[in-house]
Amino acid sequence: MNLKELVGIEAAKFVKDGMTVGLGTGSTAYYLVKELGRRVNEEGLKITGVVTSSKTEEQAKELGIPLKAIDEVDSVDLTIDGADEISADFQGIKGGGAALLFEKVVATYSKDCIWIVDESKMVDKLGKFPLPVEVVPFGGHNLFRLFEAKGYRPTWRKTEADELLTTDGGHYIIDLHLEVIEDPRALAKELDDYVGVVEHGLFIDMISRAIVGTPEGPKILEV
Ligand code: A5P
Repeated sequence: MNLKELVGIEAAKFVKDGMTVGLGTGSTAYYLVKELGRRVNEEGLKITGVVTSSKTEEQAKELGIPLKAIDEVDSVDLTIDGADEISADFQGIKGGGAALLFEKVVATYSKDCIWIVDESKMVDKLGKFPLPVEVVPFGGHNLFRLFEAKGYRPTWRKTEADELLTTDGGHYIIDLHLEVIEDPRALAKELDDYVGVVEHGLFIDMISRAIVGTPEGPKILEV
């Protein structure tokens, strides 16, 4: 069993009958959704899923997990999602899979969030992983030039066909190659303030625990 599968299955244990569950996106969340699908079908687990991307929606539907849209629920009991980096103080970068906007919306309406990662994602400080910034197409190139001028080393997120990637929300993504983010809270605030930035991949104070996959087994880190 690979480390992503290990933490996906471990995290599914936090899901109980009757819960509304935020279903994350990415190659780690895939295993969580798979395990929840198994429990729904084999154990009769009763849950309502709220998806964070069209990709996860497709998977959850195939598995027969009952779903509701985020706007059909007042809150989500627990969201379980992957992350690209988690710092020593449990802040995170997300959006490597381009689903950061919907992931942050669902996380925001969640009473509790857990991130599941393999140990390679645990870092001292955030920033080695390029920070995704989701922007509206109108004026997006101006934001790109502004980030360049600030020394943020932006690149456009592209598709395999080398076209600008469009997110589920209909926006573009600019990745900032920062190497190290000394003050994630301050940078989050700065990015929040740019007109045309829809959302960014800095997830601040979001989780109650992280489940980290190691060769010795899953480690549950309480925040
Ligand atoms: C999706 O946009 C992301 O936030 C993912 O949750 C994150 O990139 C982790 O993905 P993996 O589990 O595939 O590494």
